[in-house]
Amino acid sequence: MENLSRSEFLRQTALAGAGLLLSSLKTFADTEQRKIRVAIIGCGSVSGQYFPHLSKSPFVEIVSCCDIIHQRAIDRAKEFKVPNHYPHIDKLLAGAPFDLMITLTDMQEHGRLNKQALTAGKHVWSEKPMANTYAEGKALLDLAKSKKLRIWGAPAVVNSPQFAYMSKMIQEGKLGRVAAAHGHYGHTGPTWSAFFYEKGGGSMPDLGVYNIATLTGLLGPARSIIAMTTIVNPERTVDNKGKIKVEAEDNAMLILQHDKGVLSHVQCGFNYFDPHGHEGKGQTQSTIRIWGDYGNMGMIGYDWAPLGVEVATSWTEPPKIEQVDAKGYVWQEGASVISESLSKGIEPIIAVDHALHVLEIIEAARASSASGKKINLQSTFKWPML
Ligand SMILES: NC(=O)c1ccc[n+]([C@@H]2O[C@H](COP(=O)([O-])OP(=O)(O)OC[C@H]3O[C@@H](n4cnc5c(N)ncnc54)[C@H](O)[C@@H]3O)[C@@H](O)[C@H]2O)c1
Repeated sequence: MENLSRSEFLRQTALAGAGLLLSSLKTFADTEQRKIRVAIIGCGSVSGQYFPHLSKSPFVEIVSCCDIIHQRAIDRAKEFKVPNHYPHIDKLLAGAPFDLMITLTDMQEHGRLNKQALTAGKHVWSEKPMANTYAEGKALLDLAKSKKLRIWGAPAVVNSPQFAYMSKMIQEGKLGRVAAAHGHYGHTGPTWSAFFYEKGGGSMPDLGVYNIATLTGLLGPARSIIAMTTIVNPERTVDNKGKIKVEAEDNAMLILQHDKGVLSHVQCGFNYFDPHGHEGKGQTQSTIRIWGDYGNMGMIGYDWAPLGVEVATSWTEPPKIEQVDAKGYVWQEGASVISESLSKGIEPIIAVDHALHVLEIIEAARASSASGKKINLQSTFKWPML
């Protein structure tokens, strides 16, 4: 049996993303060193979903956690039996060795922290967005490649079996020629942290990001965009800063043009009353819908937690509800899934080029709204994704 060092294994695992060296990785995956050692930075709200999921993964060992509000890291460390906790990224990177950093901080911090982790030789899984701008995100990917490391960005919507089912329906032509699609996601906005409303925050990187990932994932890369974004509620009261001025869009509408004339529309906002609340439990309506000339289909519930797919292809029969089983998929699984991929040397469905494309769309939506002009998009990703 080949005996690889941990660093060599992870270097080769990263290369395996390009389809290389899978045979040697399989050998390694069978040995005792198959767990990816992870460090989690940002121990706030979403970490309450990540820690339990990662703790249950047989491919993960949570080595350390970090938060600038140190008490939060101390509390998570105690709750999930994490041996090390730190108050600053410098201490985290200089502390107990690990392979993958999971970034769950304020959105505005992601680019800077992800860069620091890559520079220190760590793989990165980042909550959305992976950077503040497309250029910053692309520079992170280039840095990762130059160091033979991997970086991925949330969301993980392409992992759901409902997404897979809808993708297959489109690819097999079951809807006929696809023409149009819609996605919406909103609630009345997070109440705990100001960053959601500050520059670099906004309803697009927090909420619209899911629909944009789903619709581009299903329909292919967008080639151009026209959008309008506004601020409906100029002042908010949040737990960590009291009354604040809203600086980032809390209301957005985007129209995307994909290949073959397909148009999709996304709307998102922080002022949407929804009786199903932030969790979306009990939602029976579709929030994603795709129309073709033979049929249409809708993803019931939110795309990050879908409950089934409603398919209408008959003039006489009522629509059918398909693919109700999530088969274990949950939205907070991204970091666990890519840890498994790193460990086994297999490529996950989630793709960094896709996350970057979504980031370019968000930035271009703001530019379109500010200028009143249609914006052509440069980035692309491998499609179909499945
Ligand atoms: N809360 C959710 O339900 C949810 C769901 C999906 C994704 N997200 C995403 O997760 C990210 C975090 O959101 P949240 O709701 O957990 O926010 P939060 O404010 O609850 O938590 C963020 C934490 O990061 C810490 N932090 C900020 N800057 C830091 C730094 N430089 N170094 C170390 N720690 C730092 C803060 O002290 C805070 O504890 C955002 O990108 C958000 O869009 C949140």
